[in-house]
Amino acid sequence: MTPEEAFFSLYEGLPRQGPGSESSTHEALRRLGKLPKSLRVIDLGCGSGASTLLLARELNSPVVAIDQHAPFLEALASNAEQEGLKSLIQIRQGDFTQLDESPCSYDLIWSEGAAYLVGFEQALTLWRPLLAPGGRVALTELTWLVPTPSDEPRIFWKKAYPGMTTIAGNCSSAERVGFRVLDTFTLPADDWWNEYYRPLRRRIAAFRASHTVPRTIEAILSETEREMHIVERYSKEFGYVFYLLELDENAQLDAIEDEEPVSTQRSSIRDPSRGAATSSRDGGTPSRKSKLGSSAPLSRRSVIETLNVPVDWEARVQLERKFTQLVAELGLIRAQELIATIRERVEASIDS
Ligand SMILES: C[S@@+](CC[C@H](N)C(=O)[O-])C[C@H]1O[C@@H](n2cnc3c(N)ncnc32)[C@H](O)[C@@H]1O
Repeated sequence: MTPEEAFFSLYEGLPRQGPGSESSTHEALRRLGKLPKSLRVIDLGCGSGASTLLLARELNSPVVAIDQHAPFLEALASNAEQEGLKSLIQIRQGDFTQLDESPCSYDLIWSEGAAYLVGFEQALTLWRPLLAPGGRVALTELTWLVPTPSDEPRIFWKKAYPGMTTIAGNCSSAERVGFRVLDTFTLPADDWWNEYYRPLRRRIAAFRASHTVPRTIEAILSETEREMHIVERYSKEFGYVFYLLELDENAQLDAIEDEEPVSTQRSSIRDPSRGAATSSRDGGTPSRKSKLGSSAPLSRRSVIETLNVPVDWEARVQLERKFTQLVAELGLIRAQELIATIRERVEASIDS
């Protein structure tokens, strides 16, 4: 068994794969306010679908559920069938950083405990084009609750999640990438334990009892237990926070010079060959189109200048982030290739 297989086997069959609860998902829905009757919802990083099932049940709307790990999705499929929700839930195995969805095709993006995998701001930047005008986002994110945390959790999370920040920090990020913050609330401490850590702790004990655990896998188990210990001890200093956001169509995202276009097409986040969506809720709304820059091409000069700047590692990270943001906003053709080119050029400039 590889460390990766061991890791996933610990989480398969758990009620959820991260902190949360039905009552917090309900609370988030309540705080989102009045939602239109017919909603298009997408649950990103749905895992075995604890939130997906609740959303489909409560909203009585179709929910697209996306995760990259097939066994989690199989568990969701079986639960959806048992609960009679199969017709409302569309399950898709996929990578939420490379979605193939048409722009403006959802009214509500849900994501519990998964945005951290790319980073809060980056996730919002990548997912924003999916939202139709008036669209909302509800996501949970591990967040500092105090300005100066104790050394032990600070050092632990600095390594485990270097991008972790405060509620104010995340709210600024959300605003920077084109959202209004409707509300936030911290998940209760029980949300870590009832459906997540306690079953996981039992799973770890059973795993140790039934396997001769190799060192690489033991390292994963010990790290997970250490995380639990830190949560147990310092739960007042950090927590999972629900962020409830609304698309800000008046947001002034970074202005982009219009010169020779690299690409003007923004038909889908990843696959431009699908052609522009034609629904009336698509990017045809003039205000959204101009403000998001969907018709504003990224100039070739900007790309070339970006590629030629000699940078250090920190600047490289910022540069890639900035560029990925532009790519997501513009739905550039061959975005991945452009990012790979940047990476190569920057690495070459560092080596030389
Ligand atoms: C912490 S779990 C949260 C799962 C679920 N939302 C919950 O609260 O129980 C994160 C989930 O994101 C999924 N995931 C990680 N990276 C992903 C990616 N790039 N695309 C899609 N899913 C991803 C994992 O398989 C996992 O199910």
